[in-house]
Amino acid sequence: MKQVRIGVLGIGRGRSMIDYTKKANNARLVAICDFWAEGLLNTMEQINDDSITYYEAFDEFIKHDMDAVVLANYANEHAPYAIKALQAGLHVFSEVLPVQNMKEAVELVEEIEKHDLIYAYGENYCYMPATREMKRLYKLGKLGEFEYGEGEYIHNCAPIWADITRGDKNHWRNHQYATFYSTHSIGPLIHITSLRPIKVSGFETKYNERVRRMGKLGAPAGLEIITLENGAILKSVHGDLDKNSIWYSIYGSKGRIESAREDALQKDIERVYLNLDQDENSYDFTPTTYEPKDELHETAHDYGHGGSDFYTIYNFCEKVLGNPEADTIDIYEAFDMFFPGHFAYRSILNGGIPVDIPNFRNKEDREAFREDIFCTDPKVAKDKVWPCYSKGNPIIADEIYEEIEAVWKKNNQ
Ligand SMILES: NC(=O)c1ccc[n+]([C@@H]2O[C@H](COP(=O)([O-])OP(=O)(O)OC[C@H]3O[C@@H](n4cnc5c(N)ncnc54)[C@H](O)[C@@H]3O)[C@@H](O)[C@H]2O)c1
Repeated sequence: MKQVRIGVLGIGRGRSMIDYTKKANNARLVAICDFWAEGLLNTMEQINDDSITYYEAFDEFIKHDMDAVVLANYANEHAPYAIKALQAGLHVFSEVLPVQNMKEAVELVEEIEKHDLIYAYGENYCYMPATREMKRLYKLGKLGEFEYGEGEYIHNCAPIWADITRGDKNHWRNHQYATFYSTHSIGPLIHITSLRPIKVSGFETKYNERVRRMGKLGAPAGLEIITLENGAILKSVHGDLDKNSIWYSIYGSKGRIESAREDALQKDIERVYLNLDQDENSYDFTPTTYEPKDELHETAHDYGHGGSDFYTIYNFCEKVLGNPEADTIDIYEAFDMFFPGHFAYRSILNGGIPVDIPNFRNKEDREAFREDIFCTDPKVAKDKVWPCYSKGNPIIADEIYEEIEAVWKKNNQ
């Protein structure tokens, strides 16, 4: 196999992976699936390529003659589709998040372990120029032992909410709890350090009128304070605060590296500030700043999210093709990125107490969660459904969703 034959589920975010295959040497697009018939038809017209087969039904789509699927469907529904794809003998690239509850986590990891197939978690924020450089220097030992880190993914989605929820009151984005969509802020810190989270305390910001107007039931933003296996601490914050910020900072025993702040207008995740000592007994307070570029920088640069959208799918294809250098995120690491947000909400629902995070590399750690269906999706959690906001679901009038749907329809005329 020289090129991975890929099928993409979901034409929204999935478009990024569809576009990747247009120029890629290591991938070929063969099928696309989306049950939104009108959107699928538009995509077919735009792509205008007779070699691609289009499906509305996932169960038909996975019978297509291909090697791998990209799951860019709803963020809370990846696990059941990943399991079906693995059972059909397909490699899986999963968009964020990996699962929505712990029962799914047990089922997914156990399915992956049955197969000799690649599962890669698409946490693209690990592959931005700044986070890649942080990882490179950390792994070279330049920062010493990891002591403290911060990750921020603040994205005020109000201006695009109509397009990304289509006025659907049951859309996962409207039902997410504050600490659900947590892996853009936590993930890079885990990928840089390869340290496992063991404990978390969670916080949510106060519900406000801006998110009510969006139709969102959860708090605007969530925070996790996480203890890692070596005793280091992480602070992660993410959500719909008013202004955007993608920012990472890590402190080691020999120095600090951080990305530029968005408001500094210094190309944020494309620039780093590095402040290193020669060793742990010398103190040099002079920082240096630069825009890191690796050998794939020029190829990746035009892709979304600071080029990171290129690296995730490129590395997935390389991994499937057997390249031992391919930098992908397996299911255990994906859970190290996801569990802190999930258990942070358990912490929030219990007044902010610290909560232990299991390690699913250990089979015995899975037992307590085999039937644990707690989440905010009523279809899946049934009588175990969590409120989306810890103080109870806010009241949102149906007219709000009707107005949002009207905006979406107008935008897509
Ligand atoms: N990594 C990133 O930077 C990033 C950015 C945006 C979105 N995402 C992720 O991408 C995924 C998709 O997000 P989105 O923004 O496109 O919005 P979305 O979740 O609303 O879109 C999902 C798409 O999949 C289709 N779909 C859902 N279930 C399906 C099924 N069972 N069969 C066929 N089609 C189905 C829907 O019709 C829709 O077009 C989510 O998991 C989200 O978290 C990641």
